Amino acid sequence: MELFDVYPLFDITPVKGEGTYVFDKDGKKYLDLYGGHAVISIGHSHPAYVNAISKQVRQLGFYSNSIKNPLQVELAEKLGKLSGCEEYQLFLCNSGAEANENALKLASFATGKERIIYFENAFHGRTSGVVAVTDNESIKAPFNKGHKITKIAFNDAETLASELQKGDVAAVIFEVIQGVGGLDEATTEFYQQIEKLAKENGAMIIADEVQAGYGRTGDFFAFQKHNIHPDIISIAKGMGNGFPIGGVLIDKNIAPKYGMLGTTFGGNHLACAAGLAVLNILEKEELLQNASAMFDYVKEQAKEIPQIKNIKGRGLMIGLEFDFEVASLRKDMLYVHQIFTGSAANKNLLRILPPLNIEKKHFDTFFKALKISLANQK
Ligand SMILES: Cc1ncc(COP(=O)(O)O)c(C=O)c1O
Repeated sequence: MELFDVYPLFDITPVKGEGTYVFDKDGKKYLDLYGGHAVISIGHSHPAYVNAISKQVRQLGFYSNSIKNPLQVELAEKLGKLSGCEEYQLFLCNSGAEANENALKLASFATGKERIIYFENAFHGRTSGVVAVTDNESIKAPFNKGHKITKIAFNDAETLASELQKGDVAAVIFEVIQGVGGLDEATTEFYQQIEKLAKENGAMIIADEVQAGYGRTGDFFAFQKHNIHPDIISIAKGMGNGFPIGGVLIDKNIAPKYGMLGTTFGGNHLACAAGLAVLNILEKEELLQNASAMFDYVKEQAKEIPQIKNIKGRGLMIGLEFDFEVASLRKDMLYVHQIFTGSAANKNLLRILPPLNIEKKHFDTFFKALKISLANQK
């Protein structure tokens, strides 16, 4: 059987990971400044993470959500404590799209309404509802186009107000810092306006923290900088360091009901063991503090490179903006210097999403290579 060919592939076959590095089948070492789309939070093959998963799978890898699973309770408690969101309820699932799909469904259940407001350049996933509120028409099938949705621009409070005042909006969904879109962030005033206007008009606000959350920005959640209280927060990516796990944090104003949400695999024993190991390591190794400190270092180093016109993002969710398209620069960084970086919808942006335990020496390697590579760009 052939694979369904939907991914353009780099000609590289990683077979091993260790901290901030991956190694290909020939033993070639690559610096990973992308973490496989912001997934690797605590570093590849962290020994405490490997031990926790190995121990759990030997004991019990899976049982369904029809039994008591104390690991889910432990995960919810630990996540509440570390994130400062103890007053929320947790529902566990398997991916970012699924987390957002559940978030939209919850908002619709809770308000009895249907329409969703989303933003230009948003990416919320590829399943039916969330792809509808993603700003990329080329990945929507006719089946995805039946939803009631409205797209508006970041910082356009006037349109937001007039749309919400129509009274039929279930939720406003946003990434506080857009990932795939290119690291744009609206103003604190605008996020607070979303919260106020939504409340006044009986709509919920959903913070999609799938990429920016879990410590990546130096805060546990990116929305926390803006002093807002989302009704629903969706999480995935860094949560399992590669083990597929996602979730939604749900405010107490939304009451659960049996059957309202459900999943076969979500919150299984092995996923919880992975999730707990990630949280323990984030705390023990003070990785949120490291994310903030590394951002300061990157900003300092980037000043020495005149071709970098703008630095976007926060913590270890960084966009380096040039005044030319970076596709060939990225290829050069990968094939000549063995450094993984990412792209964005903004073609001039190099996206840096490394493991949160990255050190200054890794960025020194990156900037040295970047200078050489830029000198060679035509
Ligand atoms: C902000 C955001 N939300 C949702 C998703 C979808 O997550 P998944 O690919 O796990 O379904 C992504 C993936 O890139 C994302 O960046």
